[in-house]
Amino acid sequence: LAKIEVEMGAIPEGKNLIVKWRGKPVFIRHRTPDEIDEANSVDVKSLRDPETDDDRVQRPEWLVMLGVCTHLGCVPIGEAGDYGGWFCPCHGSHYDISGRIRRGPAPLNLEVPEYSFNDDEEKIVI
Ligand code: FES
Repeated sequence: LAKIEVEMGAIPEGKNLIVKWRGKPVFIRHRTPDEIDEANSVDVKSLRDPETDDDRVQRPEWLVMLGVCTHLGCVPIGEAGDYGGWFCPCHGSHYDISGRIRRGPAPLNLEVPEYSFNDDEEKIVI
C-alpha cells in the first residue's frame, strides 16, 4: 500500500500539519516542551480511554494520528477545545494535546496509525 513521507523540517515547533493518507486526514503536530509536559501531567486513570502519552508517540515531540473523530467520523479542528488539543465541532468532543478524548461523546482517543522515521530522521513515513 502507498506510503507517504512528510518532511519534518517543514513543521515548526508548535504547529500542526494535515496530510492525506488513504483518503483520510492525518494530523502531525510538532509539540513544544510545554505541550509534552502537559500531556504527561494527566492522571491516566481518569481518562475514558486510558493511554499514557508514551503509549501514543514514538518521540514525544512528534504526535501523529488520524484526524477522524472516534464518535461519527468528523474531522476535528486543531488548536481548539478545552484541553489544548483538538475539538470536533459535529457534536462537541474535546481531545487533549495527546489526542485523547477528554469530554464529549467520542468513545476513544484519536487513532495512531503505523508510521516510522526514515533513516536520516528527516521524514515521517506513514
Ligand atoms: Fe465528532 Fe460526533 S463526530 S463529536
